[in-house]
Amino acid sequence: MKFGYFDDANKEYVIQTPKTPYPWINYLGNEQFFGLISNTAGGYSFYRDARLRRLTRYRYNNVPLDNGGRYFYVHDEGDYWTPGWMPVKRDLDFYECRHGLGYTSITGERNGLRVNQLAFVPLGFNAEVYRVKVGNASDSPKRVSLFSYLEFCLWNAHDDMTNFQRNLSIGEVEIEDSVIYHKTEYRERRNHYAYYSVNRPIDGFDTDRDTFLGAFNGLDTPQVASEGKSGNSVASGWSPIASHGINLELAPGEEQSLIFMLGYVENPQEEKWESLNVINKKPAKAMIEAFATDAQVDSALADLAAYWDGLLGKYSIQSSDDKLSRMVNIWNPYQCMVTFNMSRSASYFESGIGRGMGFRDSNQDLLGFVHQIPDRARERIIDIASTQFEDGGAYHQYQPLTKQGNNEVGSGFNDDPLWLITGTAAYIKETGDYGILDEDVPFDSGRQGSATLFEHLKRSFDHVTNNLGPHGLPLIGRADWNDCLNLNCFSNEPGESFQTTTNLDGKTAESVFIAGLFVFAGPDYAELARRRGLEDEAVRAEREIENMRKITIEHGFDGDWFLRAYDYHGEKIGSRENEEGQIFIEPQGFCVMAGIGVEEGLAEKALNSVRDRLETDYGIMLQQPAYSKYYLNLGEISTYPPGYKENAGIFCHNNPWVTIAETVIGRGDRAFETYAKIAPAYLEDISEVHRMEPYVYSQMIAGRDAVREGEAKNSWLTGTAAWNYVAITQAILGIQPDYDGLRVDPCIPQAWDGYSISRSFRGAEYKIEIRNPHHVSKGVKSVTVDGKTVESNVLPVFEAGTSHEVVVELG
Ligand code: BGC
Ligand code: NOJ
Repeated sequence: MKFGYFDDANKEYVIQTPKTPYPWINYLGNEQFFGLISNTAGGYSFYRDARLRRLTRYRYNNVPLDNGGRYFYVHDEGDYWTPGWMPVKRDLDFYECRHGLGYTSITGERNGLRVNQLAFVPLGFNAEVYRVKVGNASDSPKRVSLFSYLEFCLWNAHDDMTNFQRNLSIGEVEIEDSVIYHKTEYRERRNHYAYYSVNRPIDGFDTDRDTFLGAFNGLDTPQVASEGKSGNSVASGWSPIASHGINLELAPGEEQSLIFMLGYVENPQEEKWESLNVINKKPAKAMIEAFATDAQVDSALADLAAYWDGLLGKYSIQSSDDKLSRMVNIWNPYQCMVTFNMSRSASYFESGIGRGMGFRDSNQDLLGFVHQIPDRARERIIDIASTQFEDGGAYHQYQPLTKQGNNEVGSGFNDDPLWLITGTAAYIKETGDYGILDEDVPFDSGRQGSATLFEHLKRSFDHVTNNLGPHGLPLIGRADWNDCLNLNCFSNEPGESFQTTTNLDGKTAESVFIAGLFVFAGPDYAELARRRGLEDEAVRAEREIENMRKITIEHGFDGDWFLRAYDYHGEKIGSRENEEGQIFIEPQGFCVMAGIGVEEGLAEKALNSVRDRLETDYGIMLQQPAYSKYYLNLGEISTYPPGYKENAGIFCHNNPWVTIAETVIGRGDRAFETYAKIAPAYLEDISEVHRMEPYVYSQMIAGRDAVREGEAKNSWLTGTAAWNYVAITQAILGIQPDYDGLRVDPCIPQAWDGYSISRSFRGAEYKIEIRNPHHVSKGVKSVTVDGKTVESNVLPVFEAGTSHEVVVELG
């Protein structure tokens, strides 16, 4: 069952009912000012850091769900309602929500009054702009009142919802003309404030929540909206809000447009005040001026659209499969940019107060956006590497505002360092910028000296070989990619963190997954060394990689698939010898991606085992059989009820590893089948089962053992976005950035006739037509560039600004 449809021409998902299975959200903002907005206008805004600079309040886990946002109440002759249906939930004669790239437009109509609210953050601007259009679709004149509403957060989102003894006394606002300024704590150490404006005179206002709502009322029954009259309240402590009251007279057919703006201003210390206790409003006024007219809004919307066209235009496909095209051209790269901006901080499942930027997450996210914004990828790589320790280990997370490693979570996740090699190599392959390797980059933000980025990569590589276990496989540490496989934790204390508790010192537990990752990432390190003229180092690295390959086959293969790990006691995990958790997805995907066991036929066996034992209609489960009880020696993985999350859920992030692995052994049909199983556009028809947004990936889909099999959770902020993007654009469609050019090496379903790709690469345009007349999956038979036959399937780096026609025939 569907709840809307894709409007590909406008790059929008159109939701036709407010009663989606779960709030379906979108993101606003690209640089510093961000907002989350649901299809019923719920959500919140923040500046740069969702924890420390939260601008509006949002109550997670609230009832009813998603109650709180930037609302516009309409009062129409005794009747009052909200165009997004929530929070008043009055029946609407028409409802539509269009989530587009960086904007959301919601329309509601009732009794001949049509209200549209459009929200976006203009490029390079620290504010959310809302254009509200109120139209009289009836044939008689209408007199209505409009009441805007949002609730301010007292900046620190965590403190805001816990420290009531202080916070209920500190709220302060100023009101001048049509603008409400939120200035809590500005009198002391803060030099920033927020404001909410509208571009016309107002008939009333409210800044005190209790006055606006009325005692004991909720957002669904605000007194002001029901009476149609503002209270003109001035907040002092309690809960400051911003509400404008505006009376409108509309002739039949008339439409009026109002422009609201929620902005954020930081003043220099010496320019904080206009006069005693009166804040300096100059910067806010200038911002408000910039969006005083519809023409200004229209032009900023056009700029935003052009910005996205530019980003998405770097890679696009023309194919006969609409679902594939909309994933590749629009929604997957869009989600990759959102994961770049948000990491794992703020979604409807991540509360914006918990996690910092993950070391491994950020490196993997980079794989999905590096071609869109290479400069910012470069900056990101340096930021990440700057938190690395001098021994090559890594803080698991760092904080975006300070860019310092997060001490609370610490280090010891032994896969972390290797992802830096993969991220950096992807950046260099995309850009050819080897200069990044010479950048002087601190260790532990300068506390442990500094070295070139290349030296950081060497330390990453060596961190693995310096930390080997009894079989010669890498020690796992606190966990590897699977944060919940905690082999040194042995926790029996309720509430103790599985990720940061190490009760036994880990000198035995080993990870076959890290071995695979080492053999996958290692060759890029060796290659970069060679290109720096360090031939001996390259040869040494290759020896280590070859050694690991052999050890993985010797001690990491279990007959029909790769083992997962050895536990603290040296017992196998992910083996046919185990009662539960006999086979895991991660080492099958990664070892085959690394090429381990391909020649020996083991790779094919491993992938067949995945198909036979882990695959379901909804995707590939993380392991089987699910753990039915808590295992002290395994940690968090066995805490989840069977079928959810790491305990045999379909953890979407690693499904693309299997997809890519299938292309390594040339099985294009299988590759595409596994790709499409989790790609959201292909799941649109089962939205009532899947429940999350059909335009973005979710972290997890409940597995076969779960009560609610097929139901997804944790939409938006997941490494799945980057990896399924790599799987489809590089492994399947076969356009692979490489050191010396653009490699074309597709692996597709045999039935496909062909497709065309436009790819900008290092400033040049490649128009590539892939033809498959012999209906094969893999193998490039011929290549022509601008009509001339060329020998190699690695297209050269062309002069920036030029455009080239490439025809590739498979066979
Ligand atoms: C989740 C993991 C996550 C970890 C660290 C666990 O509870 O299951 O998916 O990576 O927490 O935040
Ligand atoms: C989510 C985390 O963000 C990621 O780092 C981890 O690899 C997966 N969960 C699996 O545990």
